Amino acid sequence: MANPHVLVIPFPVQGHVIPLMELAQCLVEHGFIITFVNTEVTHERVLDALADKGLLDDRIRLVAIPDGLESEEERKIPGKLAEAIYRVMPGKLEELIREINASEEEPITCVIADQGLGWALEVAGKMGIRRAAFLTAAAASLVLGFRIPCLIDDGIIDHDGTPIKKQTLQLAPTMPLMNTSDFVWARVANLALQKIIFGAMVQNNRLVKLADWLICNSTYDLEPGAFDLAPEIKPIGPLLASNRLGNSAGHFWMEDSTCLEWLDKQPPGSVIYVAFGSFATFSKPQFEELALGLELTNRPFLWVLRQDTKDGTNATYVEGLQHKTATQGQIVSWAPQQKVLSHPSIACFLSHCGWNSTVESVSNGVPMLCWPYFADQFFNQSYICDIWKVGLGFKRDASGAIAHGEIKNKVDELLGTMTFKERALHLKERLMNNIGEGGSSHENFTNFVDWMKTQKSS
Ligand code: UDX
Repeated sequence: MANPHVLVIPFPVQGHVIPLMELAQCLVEHGFIITFVNTEVTHERVLDALADKGLLDDRIRLVAIPDGLESEEERKIPGKLAEAIYRVMPGKLEELIREINASEEEPITCVIADQGLGWALEVAGKMGIRRAAFLTAAAASLVLGFRIPCLIDDGIIDHDGTPIKKQTLQLAPTMPLMNTSDFVWARVANLALQKIIFGAMVQNNRLVKLADWLICNSTYDLEPGAFDLAPEIKPIGPLLASNRLGNSAGHFWMEDSTCLEWLDKQPPGSVIYVAFGSFATFSKPQFEELALGLELTNRPFLWVLRQDTKDGTNATYVEGLQHKTATQGQIVSWAPQQKVLSHPSIACFLSHCGWNSTVESVSNGVPMLCWPYFADQFFNQSYICDIWKVGLGFKRDASGAIAHGEIKNKVDELLGTMTFKERALHLKERLMNNIGEGGSSHENFTNFVDWMKTQKSS
């Protein structure tokens, strides 16, 4: 029998491309051929970052379709990308599938779409192709999304998502505490963007119900409350390259692996790893507080400062900092994060609490210091600090900033006891049991693969 051909399409941002690419790499090991569809801009970035590494199996074919925007300037305007995607990409995706299915290639028999691209599920349905949705965030975020009609009925939020009452919700005992002002759609730059994101969420929550499978990069033991409330969401995570002894791919920046050699020279369990994912940026004063706080800890640190956060006002400061802390710290533009977090020298992870970073940290038994910025990161912080108790959050001062003294104190508190590390190692063990033979993630993934191999097109 020919290898089944699956089309995988992520939302075009870093935190979605990496886990969907990991899923693609897992599927290849089960005999699938993958067409991985990025927007043209993302496609170029992924290819550039991969340059000459021969990382990707040739059964994964990278292809590109336009995102509907004319310029980089437009892409930087919050909400523009989300809007353009809906206008242009559905037609382009349909065209691409028609082309493939009319060619000599194996026809596409299943579409796996990012849960944030509900329209791709519609396109697949219209073409009679089976479909699965993949959630890159915590199951809790979708469970909250499914609750939107009740939140409106109960007068907690308005029809555009604006919180009416300030209160803290907990949908189940093992679910995160959610302040209404921290709702995924409410923690964004402005009201216009909130409306776009809220509207897209409502639409995607409806469309995701069309999918034959709804899989998630999470684990039952991380979120039992959420999975009990929405048993249709099947956890298959944590999806990590190390689980298949491979490399992660789909990065937008080239990894600087020299930091692994630097880590080799540090004492075990000594290094603070500092990284804020692919979006977060700092004001100059906040940036300086963080630099000073790290210096004050007197501990080695590895800090990811993306090129875009170094540009402009911070550039001179960063140069000075690099010079000043040369013996204490290492600064890189983009790290091989999954490898860093599994390195024995790492003591803790100071993170923005993006879901991928969170999953990667707890899968390696690394305690966390939480510095959330937007969207789901606030309730990811609640999982880390209130539910799993493997980390600490920072207190902000009256101006909303996190001061250097607070940073030093929280590092000392987290690392001054073995309690957080012990809990983190215990959680890691449970997660690893989930992906091992007989574990629930393993079972869900196996059932998903069997379904894709055996079912006929509807
Ligand atoms: C975004 C949102 O912030 C997040 O909350 C949402 O759940 C997914 O989309 P991002 O901000 O980029 O993602 O954070 P995160 O989810 O943590 O993903 C970042 C990815 O980049 C991780 O897989 C991480 O390993 C990788 N990374 C980060 C690197 O490989 N190297 C780095 O130096 C930094």
